[in-house]
Amino acid sequence: MLQLGLIGSPLGHSLSPWLHSNFLEQTELKGEYQLMEIKPENFPEEISTLKDREMNGFNVTVPFKREIIPFLDSIDDRASRLGAVNTVVVQNGKWRGYNTDGDGYLESVRAVYPDIISSAERVLIIGSGGAARGIAFSLSGLSLKIDVTNRTPSRAEELLSDLPEAVRGRFLTLNEAALALDEYDWVIQTTSVGMAPKAEEIPIDVKKVKENALFSDIVYRPLETRFLLEAKRKGARVHYGHLMLLYQAAYSFALWTNEEVLPASLITEMESKLEG
Ligand code: ATR
Repeated sequence: MLQLGLIGSPLGHSLSPWLHSNFLEQTELKGEYQLMEIKPENFPEEISTLKDREMNGFNVTVPFKREIIPFLDSIDDRASRLGAVNTVVVQNGKWRGYNTDGDGYLESVRAVYPDIISSAERVLIIGSGGAARGIAFSLSGLSLKIDVTNRTPSRAEELLSDLPEAVRGRFLTLNEAALALDEYDWVIQTTSVGMAPKAEEIPIDVKKVKENALFSDIVYRPLETRFLLEAKRKGARVHYGHLMLLYQAAYSFALWTNEEVLPASLITEMESKLEG
């Protein structure tokens, strides 16, 4: 019986138990996935308790993706460069940390818009937090240039300097990015701006979009952010945030079980859960 779960705070409406119980069903593995909400002030003690439990692996979400690192026995290279872990694999009592957010994002785009992966030349990432870094690192194997815009310039500069030179573009202020938006084949919104209950907010105005461009938002509550709605009205193709959540979960599941699952089969039901 696989013992899986999620640590974070708050975890109220997490879809992860539903996703992973579907993956368990698909692979005919027996197991359970539990929500383990931890108050930030109790983190070290709760982690010690967790070490004593017979877990096979767990996910880590806000606000512990960085805090978990000192408690690991080892860490995957990418997660280490990122400074954020969203998946822990437990083997012989040892904890190893990974981050599946960026690859989950990339795979979710490949599933819906494969042409973008092969043809996009200029990419704009809005934001420079952990999610932006994970996505940028996963994109850095493709043949494209990544520009970054962020409210705080120093964080964007740090992200750019951590990227391989071949893909490293330039920093733009949010205003500059709004004016240059129609130069990009692929625009990726990674900030929390537009998340419910502040769904009326938008990180940058969408005035013009390039023909055939893909606009993507990692926010999935609401499913369609104002940013994506405006991009769609201007003719962009859009990619929704729940797809990243779905595919990063599939990658975590594969790390724990070595089993491949079919995330696409869950998309419609996931959408009705998020809309309901
Ligand atoms: P995560 O790890 O989930 O990406 P994070 O590290 O807190 O979270 O990063 C959040 C991102 O959203 C950052 O790019 C942040 O901009 P700053 O670097 O300037 O803080 C951006 N962000 C959050 N709230 C914002 C707001 N109201 N306006 C503009 N950007 C915002």
